[in-house]
Amino acid sequence: MLDPKAIITIDGPSGAGKSTISRGLAAKLHFTYLDTGAMYRAVGLALAQQGVDLADTPALTQCLAKIELTLVPNGDDDVRVLLGGEDISQAIRTPEMGMVASRVSANPLVREKLTALQRQLGEAGGIVAEGRDMGTVVFPKAACKFFLNASAEERARRRQAQLAEKGQTVDYQEILDQISKRDYDDSRRALAPLKPAPDVILVDSSSMGPEAVIDYMLASIAKSAR
Ligand code: DC
Repeated sequence: MLDPKAIITIDGPSGAGKSTISRGLAAKLHFTYLDTGAMYRAVGLALAQQGVDLADTPALTQCLAKIELTLVPNGDDDVRVLLGGEDISQAIRTPEMGMVASRVSANPLVREKLTALQRQLGEAGGIVAEGRDMGTVVFPKAACKFFLNASAEERARRRQAQLAEKGQTVDYQEILDQISKRDYDDSRRALAPLKPAPDVILVDSSSMGPEAVIDYMLASIAKSAR
């Protein structure tokens, strides 16, 4: 039986389907979904709004100390992100904010702040935590760790379809270039780079639908809990 206080981690590059899978898995397990990418996006937005330069350590420290970030469950498998009480859930979900988040996420002060907050949010357990360093850095003792990947082309195609659903038209090549650049930056940075933990279960979703991936993960979790 899976401990109801267990932590499940899902790491992987952008566009591999982590959000859909993590939300779905959390709903099936009756766990809380922790979207750590949203937290980096929120900090990116806060710094941009306040015109704080990452190189200006005193201003950055001050701004980070004042940031009030809240994740509010919204229905079974969704969360709203509040920055100082303002709902920024939509504002952070743009490809541009993804690039901004990637840039701020390489900063040690930003990582220190969010790692502490993520551990605090995970303290009670019963969570599915999605990000880049969940299994390697934030929750190294997680009960079950996954690394979800898919080819860059497939990820770009999915992202384009997602944006089209929201009425945003973005060029395929532009998305592919952004995804490749983010992969490169996220996996080569010095701090908490995107890489599979040694005890991770690798899942390639290139030719698997979300339901199949979730079923596979549920089976792996059941096996590891035996
Ligand atoms: O998962 P996402 O696309 O919302 O993440 C946005 C950026 O945040 C991503 O490019 C890298 C960074 N990130 C991180 O460094 N560590 C995490 N745990 C989650 C996201």
